[in-house]
Amino acid sequence: MEKLTGLKAINTAVFISGTGNNLKNLIKFSKTKKNSISINLIISNTNKAKGLKYADQFKIKKKIFNFQNTIITEQNILALLKKEKIKFICLAGFMRILSKNFIKKFNGKIINIHPSLLPKYKGLDTHERAISNKDQFAGCTVHYVSAKLDSGKIIMQKQIKITREDNSTTLAKKVLKQELKLYPMAIMKILINL
Ligand code: GRF
Repeated sequence: MEKLTGLKAINTAVFISGTGNNLKNLIKFSKTKKNSISINLIISNTNKAKGLKYADQFKIKKKIFNFQNTIITEQNILALLKKEKIKFICLAGFMRILSKNFIKKFNGKIINIHPSLLPKYKGLDTHERAISNKDQFAGCTVHYVSAKLDSGKIIMQKQIKITREDNSTTLAKKVLKQELKLYPMAIMKILINL
């Protein structure tokens, strides 16, 4: 694949499954920070994803794929990405695991945000696990997506302190606040480095 360049906005797709706080934040970032990314496509695996409303609000093309047959679905997604000239993918609360084959096609061009200090707490329920283990710190990580879940090379992390009063809900809120800062920063970091 061709190299990304910091000189013009990179055609980007954001994959979501849920609320879309990170999506909304990335859209805002793309609009305020010129020559970074331009979000041209939003993909969801469910029509229940609340974040899809941002596609309508910001007039961005959206497409829902139900992943009943993963192989065919991924082929269809790849065809759409090609048609829309997408060069970069940001996963933002996307709850499907992409295949090795899919990731290979976008090698080094798919990143994800995860609500833990990876390599700790890959997968789900990160905040519950941090609290029940009596961790002192929690946080979030932006990383490249590799074939193994939440295991690709780390781009940036942000750590926050867990207080005695925290429960998984308060912690999730605090971490999300940091996610909204970290994701754009991590994108800037790799745009400059590429
Ligand atoms: C975020 O905590 C993100 O890190 C995780 O799922 C949550 C998605 O939130 N992967 P949202 O859809 O961006 O609101």
